[in-house]
Amino acid sequence: MLRPLHSIKLPITEPHQLDQDEAYFYLRENGRDLRIRFHDYGEIYRRPGLYEQIFYQRLKCVSPKKVANILSEVLHENRVEISELRVLDLGAGNGMFGEQLQTGGVSRMVGVDIAPEAEEACLRDRPGVYDAYYVADLCKMTADIEEQLKAWHLDCLSCVAALGFGDIPATAFANAFNLIAPGGWVAFNIKESFLLESDQSGFSNLIKSLMMSDALEVHHLERYRHRISIDGKPLFYYALVGKKEYDIPADLMAKLD
Ligand SMILES: C[S@@+](CC[C@H](N)C(=O)[O-])C[C@H]1O[C@@H](n2cnc3c(N)ncnc32)[C@H](O)[C@@H]1O
Repeated sequence: MLRPLHSIKLPITEPHQLDQDEAYFYLRENGRDLRIRFHDYGEIYRRPGLYEQIFYQRLKCVSPKKVANILSEVLHENRVEISELRVLDLGAGNGMFGEQLQTGGVSRMVGVDIAPEAEEACLRDRPGVYDAYYVADLCKMTADIEEQLKAWHLDCLSCVAALGFGDIPATAFANAFNLIAPGGWVAFNIKESFLLESDQSGFSNLIKSLMMSDALEVHHLERYRHRISIDGKPLFYYALVGKKEYDIPADLMAKLD
């Protein structure tokens, strides 16, 4: 167990009072308690080790390892060498998932994140994980970014702990999916509620449509404990690894938010 670097405290709140995207913690710094929301990634990444301390040490997140292990198993079953993959890691953050794949030895890894602080933290804490890192919003992909990403001939999309919930919207995920070559691989995780029939959000509809259509051939779908909540309750996610067969059709793209 790593020694905590930062003085962090969780707030007094009624159990289950805060939704996952409203949760926050206090950071004691220079004699003051700063209130930081879990989604204030800029504030978190700016402080070395804080992201790892809150999500991985305190809240026991296992997702980068879990998704990387499943991807590796699926590739093995399909006799694909992980070392040949050219991966686009969407919502790359400070490189936690990239680091897992780097250990497996992928051919190329390109990170994309909307937050400039994510790239800075990655260069500071995990230099060399990505062959290139783009700070970009794939919802509004510029021709320049599209051209640069296409030049990497990507054949695997990963997106860990970053989909939905005020993070990466459906359009950005769909644009990234369409950058991957047909026959390439897709590995991501999502909160379990996104797969419920009752969830009619654009993101949920996209994932369910992809799973039901031939655009994505699902090879592995597994429910697991992503991390615990601030009340110590398990937060369940699905990890999905599949093969991309073809691009998301225009009629489905038009319905995304
Ligand atoms: C919880 S972090 C996950 C980081 C990393 N994948 C991991 O497993 O540790 C979510 C990341 O998604 C990024 N993000 C949120 N919205 C985004 C968007 N529209 N496009 C790209 N990245 C986004 C955030 O900046 C943040 O770095």
